[in-house]
Formats: sequence, structure tokens, C-alpha cells
Amino acid sequence: MPDDRSEHYSTSRPTSLSQPAIYDDTLRGVPLKLWTDRGVFSRGHTDPGSAELITAMDLTGARRILDLGCGYGVIGIAAAKLAPAARVILTDPNERAVKLARQNLETNAVRNAEVRQGEGFAPVGDEQFDVILTNPPIRAGNAVVFSLIAGAAAHLPPGGRLYLVARTKQGARTFAKEMEKHFSTVTQVGQGSGYRVYAGVK
Ligand SMILES: C[S@@+](CC[C@H](N)C(=O)[O-])C[C@H]1O[C@@H](n2cnc3c(N)ncnc32)[C@H](O)[C@@H]1O
Repeated sequence: MPDDRSEHYSTSRPTSLSQPAIYDDTLRGVPLKLWTDRGVFSRGHTDPGSAELITAMDLTGARRILDLGCGYGVIGIAAAKLAPAARVILTDPNERAVKLARQNLETNAVRNAEVRQGEGFAPVGDEQFDVILTNPPIRAGNAVVFSLIAGAAAHLPPGGRLYLVARTKQGARTFAKEMEKHFSTVTQVGQGSGYRVYAGVK
């Protein structure tokens, strides 16, 4: 049976033995309790890149927010708490992640969000968003991340924003260059713990 080290967190159906773990964190002043598990990205703690993204994201005026590749939901749940007037959609192809994200909505009494399973933009069809947030699946390869960047541009109106975080050593600047092909402006809005956060405005 594979464990977390051999099993790709991006798999849609993890086979590693389930071993749930809950942790507490406070992100931008929002106290959260988060269920995590093996076979799902960043078990037992908030990924430092996701924490940087949450610190850097500007949700002002956003009514429709997408957390793309939500894992157990830390980014989307923080967004839902920080923007209570917004509707947040969280998506991920990993069925264990989706189950945890739904459980975490309940645990944190989040009522303005929902979780959908699927790859890329399949779970949202042609819905449009004001803000898209992603800590993308780097291990799935550049082609997948590039397609998510292009898809984000197609699901944002003019003025809509994509926030993307990546490790500096895992090609963050390459992703920023790719964003420049699809967005009017791309700015680095955060940096820390070896990660960079970029905002693309369409
Ligand atoms: C780096 S993890 C981030 C997880 C979560 N957002 C967090 O901050 O903890 C990337 C996530 O993307 C998901 N993923 C993999 N392939 C994907 C795809 N084609 N479309 C959308 N999400 C994908 C993975 O299952 C994983 O949960």
C-alpha cells in the first residue's frame, strides 16, 4: 500500500490508508480547525505557500470566488470567512480532499461556500468569478499549471484577479511569465518562506 511519500497528492482516488488529523491555525486573524489526511496535500499543517497566498489576497468587492485545487480547503475557507458576502466555490479532483473540504466547511460553520469534485474548470463549466485563488499542482507538470492559468483568464471578466502561489525554486517566475500572456498586469504581491505570490489582473 503506498504512503504519502509514494502516492501523488494529485491522484483522484488515494489508496493510502486514511489517517485523519485535525489542526488549529489562525490565518489573517481567522481561527480555523482543519481536518486533513494522508493522500491529501499538506497533512497536519497549513502549507507555507498557502499561508502566503491568504496573507496577500485582496478580496475587496469580490462576490464570486473560486479556490482551484482546494485540497482540504484552507484557502477557500479562509476566503469565505474574510468575504462573508461572497459565494466561494472550492474544487479538486481528489475525492478524499473533496470529502475533507466539505467536512471543514461544516466544522468551521461556513455557509457561503460549496465543494465540487473535478479537474481544472470542469466542475464550474462557464461560470465566471471575480477572484480565482490557487496553490497549483506543481507536481502535475507545467502543462497542467499553464492550462489552469489560461482557464483562469477565461473564467474572469475584465478587472478579475487570479492569485497564484508557487515555490521560487519550483518555477514561480516561469508561472508569472505564463500569466503575462493572459493578463493585462501581473504583479508579485507576496513573498516568504521560499514562495512568491502573483496577482494577475485581466
Ligand atoms: C499544491 S496542492 C494545494 C491544495 C490546497 N489548495 C492547499 O492550499 O492546501 C494542489 C491541489 O491541486 C489539486 N489538483 C491536481 N490536479 C488538478 C487539476 N488538474 N485541476 C485542479 N486541481 C488539481 C490536487 O489534488 C491538490 O489538492
